[in-house]
Amino acid sequence: MTATRRDGRIHMSTTHKKLAAWVEEIAALTTPDQIHWITGTDEEAAQLNQALVDSGTFIKLAEDKKPNSYYAASDPGDVARVEDRTYICSKDEKDAGFTNNWMAPDEMKGIMRDLYQGCMKGRTMYVIPFVMGHLEADQPMYGVEITDSAYVVASMRVMARVGSAVLKQMEETKADFVECLHSVGAPLAEGEQDVPWPCNDTKYIVHFPEERAIWSFGSGYGGNALLGKKCYALRIASAIAHDEGWMAEHMLILKLTNPEGKTHYIAAAFPSACGKTNLAMLAPTIPGWKAEMVGDDIAWMRFGEDGRLYAVNPEFGLFGVAPGTGWSTNRSAMETIEAGNSVFTNVARTKDGDVWWEGMTDEKPAELIDWKGNEWTPESGEKAAHPNARFCTPISQCPMAAPEYDSPNGVPISAILFGGRRATTIPLVAQSRDWTHGTYMGATLSSETTAAAVGAVGVVRRDPMAMLPFIGYNAGDYVQHWLTIGQKGDADKMPKIFQVNWFRKDDDGKFVWPGFGENSRVLAWVVDRLEGKAEGVESPIGLLPKPEEINTDGLDLTDEQLATALAFDKASWEKELPLVEEWFGKFGDELPVELRAELDGLKDRVSKA
Ligand code: GDP
Ligand code: PGA
Ligand code: MN
Repeated sequence: MTATRRDGRIHMSTTHKKLAAWVEEIAALTTPDQIHWITGTDEEAAQLNQALVDSGTFIKLAEDKKPNSYYAASDPGDVARVEDRTYICSKDEKDAGFTNNWMAPDEMKGIMRDLYQGCMKGRTMYVIPFVMGHLEADQPMYGVEITDSAYVVASMRVMARVGSAVLKQMEETKADFVECLHSVGAPLAEGEQDVPWPCNDTKYIVHFPEERAIWSFGSGYGGNALLGKKCYALRIASAIAHDEGWMAEHMLILKLTNPEGKTHYIAAAFPSACGKTNLAMLAPTIPGWKAEMVGDDIAWMRFGEDGRLYAVNPEFGLFGVAPGTGWSTNRSAMETIEAGNSVFTNVARTKDGDVWWEGMTDEKPAELIDWKGNEWTPESGEKAAHPNARFCTPISQCPMAAPEYDSPNGVPISAILFGGRRATTIPLVAQSRDWTHGTYMGATLSSETTAAAVGAVGVVRRDPMAMLPFIGYNAGDYVQHWLTIGQKGDADKMPKIFQVNWFRKDDDGKFVWPGFGENSRVLAWVVDRLEGKAEGVESPIGLLPKPEEINTDGLDLTDEQLATALAFDKASWEKELPLVEEWFGKFGDELPVELRAELDGLKDRVSKA
């Protein structure tokens, strides 16, 4: 599957006409020195990794610490998703809606063609055929990423199923695919020495939802550059899902089995860096409960023949926030990365060829090399790892991955959780009355911002269904789509919807709920509700647990602390409601009447409480 450019002509062996034409067009525009079709073999990966070591992008970690694993430090200006540079370029501005940046497709293409002109000079253009989800799915979801970054290739092969088998099936079925074009935007002049992390100050992360195409320029960072993930599996897929009647959501998928041996699959939407990967790898602290991971970031949900919603994890790897991931908080994640075959970005390095980040171990190492390449000691006063440092590692290595992870058409979902980081107001858990009320909970979800995106951290913002940065079309149409799915489904077969908050703080600013493995106690209540074993108490904001329905055996938590975690607090809701009103105002005419009615009902109940 190799191709070379000779005399400006491209020789390649794909029989896929559309793909061949597209690769030829992009090569002519970006003028790479070579073209490399990714086959996905281990030998190919070894060669690419070695090339990345030679060019200074990768440092190989010690084989006895992290086998076949590599460290990379990004440019300090290229550490997170750039939401203000992210666009949905629908033909009509209205179709992008108020949550997205928009520019007319032709205008954007004009700007970006100028940027792409000759941008791969001196570099290799890699062509990565990939599939999100399974090759054996009823409807395989293909993509091809063209990139001039070997780091992107190394990461994409962890995050998605890539290579010759995918291309072969695309050729045989003459399948359509999502065009994913990526360049770091750093052409090399003749004889110019490359830098370890090439990128460009000008960045564009652009989606053309009608054409199902993605154009990314200037950044090498995960969410901006690994285009199968947020760009395709959420932004483009959400637009496809809206057209076709399914759902592409920012959700983990957890398999939970109770002491009686009954299994439930639970999906949960939390904004970036708010605990999806951790909940997906839950280690229950209550006896007899078993948790297994199906997915940690993205769920594609379709109705099955039995009328239930089935969720698939379209990814092949984990791209997790490193800081805070440690032996005491997330042992499974640590075991997954110990198995090797991983890429670590913007973490700190130990002197003996391993990696470290804040929260990995209780004790800090005496000396490190921080993510900026400087000598570091605990006295340095700076964080050794960037707060958005990441590990990129194969799901297959996760010791608690559920076998169903490999089932092409997914698992039936019993409950959906919406959560965020809120120091106040939102209780530990509340159950919605029905799907419409649950959609209201999702549509009004809010969270304090994190380091996962460039910008201020800790500011409360509304993040509908944790999809604010990922809805590939009009947000009003998106929340309407949720209502429509609920109307299509049979009420008793639809997942029950809950709101959760692991991040409520007490008056001293400390988290009242211990979180992590202890979240199993909350999930146990959710499952008890599904099975009719817990009654709960009505409140203006939904059904809350009775304190005695939460198992606190062995937990260092006073009754008062539990009460604080669970409480409906009228005063804080009186402050919250005008913020929701303001948020709904942004939807204008696009706000579904059902959600307006939910807000009116809530206001009424809170005022009478
Ligand atoms: P994701 O980006 O949504 O997958 O979030 P992660 O699971 O990677 O977690 C992001 C950050 O939140 C990490 O620093 C975690 O340690 C922290 N975190 C996750 N779960 C909890 C929890 O239950 N309680 C607290 N206090 N922090 C958590
Ligand atoms: P996350 O996604 O921040 O939701 O983990 C990764 C990314 O987009 O960078
Ligand atoms: Mn995650």
